[in-house]
Amino acid sequence: MAFWAEKARTLLDWDTPFTTVLDDENPPFFRWFTDGRLNVSANCLDRHVAAGRGDKVAFHWVGEEGERRSLTYSDLLAETQRLANGLKGLGVGKGDVVGIFLPMIPEVAVAMLACARIGAVHNVVFGGFAPSAVRERMEVSDAKVLITVDGARRKGRTAAVKEAVDAELGDLKTLERIVVVRSTGVAAPMLEGRDVWYHELCEQADPVCPPEPLDAEHPLFILYSSGSTAKPKGILHTTGGYLTGATYTHRLVFDLDPSSDVYWCSADVGWITGHSYIVYGPLSNGATSVMFEGAPDYPDRDIWWKIVEEFKVTIFYTAPTAIRTCIKWGPQYPGRHDLSSLRLLGTVGEPINPKAWLWYHKVIGGGRCPIVDTWWQTETGAIMISPVPGVTSTKPGSATTPLPGIFPALVSEDGEPLTEGTGILVITKPWPSMLRTLYRDDERFVQTYFSRFGPNVYVVGDAARLDADGYFWIIGRIDDVINVSGHRLSTAEVESAIVAHEAVAEAAVVAQSDEQTGQAIVAFVTLTGDRVGDDATVAELREHVATRIGKLARPKRVIWADDLPKTRSGKIMRRLLRDIAEGRALGDVTTLRDPSVMAVLAHKIVESDPDE
Ligand code: WT7
Repeated sequence: MAFWAEKARTLLDWDTPFTTVLDDENPPFFRWFTDGRLNVSANCLDRHVAAGRGDKVAFHWVGEEGERRSLTYSDLLAETQRLANGLKGLGVGKGDVVGIFLPMIPEVAVAMLACARIGAVHNVVFGGFAPSAVRERMEVSDAKVLITVDGARRKGRTAAVKEAVDAELGDLKTLERIVVVRSTGVAAPMLEGRDVWYHELCEQADPVCPPEPLDAEHPLFILYSSGSTAKPKGILHTTGGYLTGATYTHRLVFDLDPSSDVYWCSADVGWITGHSYIVYGPLSNGATSVMFEGAPDYPDRDIWWKIVEEFKVTIFYTAPTAIRTCIKWGPQYPGRHDLSSLRLLGTVGEPINPKAWLWYHKVIGGGRCPIVDTWWQTETGAIMISPVPGVTSTKPGSATTPLPGIFPALVSEDGEPLTEGTGILVITKPWPSMLRTLYRDDERFVQTYFSRFGPNVYVVGDAARLDADGYFWIIGRIDDVINVSGHRLSTAEVESAIVAHEAVAEAAVVAQSDEQTGQAIVAFVTLTGDRVGDDATVAELREHVATRIGKLARPKRVIWADDLPKTRSGKIMRRLLRDIAEGRALGDVTTLRDPSVMAVLAHKIVESDPDE
């Protein structure tokens, strides 16, 4: 425990120093640094400004149409204070939930920091999600205020976000106010008394808002993530432990020198990667980062590398799926630019295949940059298994070994520890940035993570392999979660969206390996009555899923089924559907109620295989 106490004390500024490091009286409800008090926004902003680094750039923002905006630490602090006071004026107090539904514009970081400053709990929803997903997340978290935008740009087009938000959330009683950032200038309906422009709110607000000293265990944010059921899990992170983890790992894993590095994480702030490694880790460390609004292929497929060259980016962090896409596009795009500023590369979100690792190393890293393959989760808050540059020798495809202070282990189905081979990944000791619970659902928290092997063993949900050198090789999820381009989707959530379509009687969703996205969604669908499945219905179903969850969740393949394989108790056997989708020999079908279902289905697949 002395290890984490030292990290928390040296990396962060505390208003009230803690004397207790870990409270493990009531597992799995672990508490860290309990009697200490601090403020996250003060650690991310005020302390750097006070140390004379106010003019240092926090974010070099690059807009989709080529705009550039650089925000210094002083700029961020000034805007954060105004928004914090503005939110207070709207009645937001300590512990209130504030929804944030914004594209990748600097205001998203300001919004998060303003909440942190006054002890409000932010609930960021990924900008690519559909407004109905926003509604669900606002509803279950009882958000009082939502911060959103007039419109969002994507590859030359503008989507009217506020209008869509109104259509979906307009009647949500618990949502008292909506703050709207004017970003694109697209028409945004404003409801008198409820809606307020972000810039007007900030202009009218008092410029000084002292940071609220908060208990280390005060909630910092909720981030919804997919689990085994259709209901997303509200993962809750708190103040002191989370910031310790984000700050420590960002510095160690990226070998960060805040005085000279230019760091860029290409993720979206709407995911945990953006929370920990675009906003909190980099700002707490006083780093200079790039923030990019756009897509990797707009206006052209070299935009990322153009940005690296222009800002002399030294550390670049992205997802394997993006690397595979770059491989497909060809080396001529990075080849157009001088990438010699890069000195360290990172990946996150899914296992990286050795071929992509080697390409990243050679083509982007010029053969000279170490690669950190970082394994972690929304739940872990911060990187857990990863090479430490200059210390760990890497093996392409392996996240290598745990960081100091982190204790993963591999166990068999019965919980027997394994020293080598394949098994279930667990974490055997609490760590500061671990989730504290699922928002308003302690029971599901215990059930999901701490029931299989008792309240002291965190069950990750991944299978992994441990080699003779003690290196971890992450295999993938063992629950009903699909990883599409490093983003988590629950089969149940996608199924319930498909079934909500009037033509659908039943649906089962499984994952199929995909060269581009890692995994892709395959939906087996039974239609009602005598509806016949045709291309138009496939398009309709895909669109239907896009409007209910988001484009990411659209099935890549839809397979029409007269019936689905079920056990005698009526449970759909996804294992068999996976075999079919992957074109494997069928596993044991003897437990099926009607084994002939499989023969019919397998026959259909051969006929409809899109790859043939
Ligand atoms: C799941 C967590 C952590 C931010 C992005 C995703 C998979 C994550 C790796 C990696 C192999 C990885 C795991 C994990 N995953 N990083 N380096 N190698 N798999 O966060 O949405 O919470 O998903 O992503 O399956 O459990 P998330």
